[in-house]
Amino acid sequence: MRMVDLIEKKRDGEPLTKQEIRFIINGYVKGDIPDYQMSAWAMAVFFRGMSLEETAELTLSMANSGDKLDLSTLGGRFVDKHSTGGVGDKTTLLLGPMVAACGVPVAKMSGRGLGHTGGTIDKLSSIPGFRVELEQDQFLSQVKKIGLAVISQTGNLVPADKKLYALRDVTGTVSSIPLIASSVMSKKIAAGAQGIVLDVKYGSGAFMKTVEDARKLARTMVDIGKALGRQTIAVLSNMSQPLGRAVGNSLEVLEVADALQGKGPKDLMDVCFELGAWMLVAGDSVANVGEGKKCLRHSIETGAAWKKFLAFVSEQGGDAEAVASRRLNIAPWNLPILASESGYVQPFDAHKIGILAMTLGAGRVTKESPIDLGTGVMLVKKAGEWVEAGEPILELYGSDKEKLAEGILLAKELVSVSSDGSELPS
Ligand code: URA
Repeated sequence: MRMVDLIEKKRDGEPLTKQEIRFIINGYVKGDIPDYQMSAWAMAVFFRGMSLEETAELTLSMANSGDKLDLSTLGGRFVDKHSTGGVGDKTTLLLGPMVAACGVPVAKMSGRGLGHTGGTIDKLSSIPGFRVELEQDQFLSQVKKIGLAVISQTGNLVPADKKLYALRDVTGTVSSIPLIASSVMSKKIAAGAQGIVLDVKYGSGAFMKTVEDARKLARTMVDIGKALGRQTIAVLSNMSQPLGRAVGNSLEVLEVADALQGKGPKDLMDVCFELGAWMLVAGDSVANVGEGKKCLRHSIETGAAWKKFLAFVSEQGGDAEAVASRRLNIAPWNLPILASESGYVQPFDAHKIGILAMTLGAGRVTKESPIDLGTGVMLVKKAGEWVEAGEPILELYGSDKEKLAEGILLAKELVSVSSDGSELPS
């Protein structure tokens, strides 16, 4: 088999066989297929798409490209959750302790942020001492002990996705349904959970810009899960506005701490209650979503979820006391962006808020770029809220004057107010 023939086959819109897909993934992981050929193939897939059979085979080949976790040794039913990526999306940090406090263990591997979207592992790294890498046996024994562990993708788990995702990020081939579906589902299959809850985002801050495309992506992933014997549930959620008020790693951890103590913003809590309830249903711990939501609310009201979060942080070497007393590393300069007139704050472009946070230092331009964990953006006002002239709409947190200056220019373009608030979200 020759890679060039398979690129041409896909370029011409023909389906690839199982053997051909395996050849491509194995060859790429081994280094026999170079990046330039893989890029051409990814672009052919981007334009020509893949059938469900091809996408399922791609998922399986990627899941089989490295190590797999075996959670069955722990007993019980494990549920995993995955978001297709957004701005201010700190749901995993809330859902882990909430769901674990309701009796369903969470053993999760998460990713780092890339481009305008944030990543759970970067957020956790902003807690002093927190270890995002654990040996497999440490990971499993922590789940056994407290019902919750979150680590970064281990060295050899789905190496095909690690390589291909980095390549897609710099070749304009991220927003492809078969490529996203196989990337997400290969990681979930390799991580061993029996139940999978997918948060499929749509809107300007998401990779899928329309609800129709998000639905297609959700359908594809659910069908793949079914074909591979994993119960898979997808929830569509709106990412046209950032989730919550904090965007940036330390800032988001502080928002999580508030939310776990009952002071979370409504949009963030609504998404968490919905996703968490489905996780409890998939974990066979409740009969329906209504019961699940009740249990999750109770976990917040009683302080059980907050206690679980602190135990989780300590168990992974993090300074739980620093989180509880809000002593995280926050960037030294804090600049408000003020309203020039009174009115209702107009919707932000979530993608541009993500770019703004990245510009301040909160995200990576490439996988290797350093990250400044204390930087980011606070949405003092969200879309639809009233602001008086001279009051802040956004606050920018930075530690580099040049980046802050660039950020101020971007931020000023992003904010506007109107006297008419009738069509706006509240
Ligand atoms: N999240 C993933 O894990 N993979 C993608 O391709 C996009 C979002």
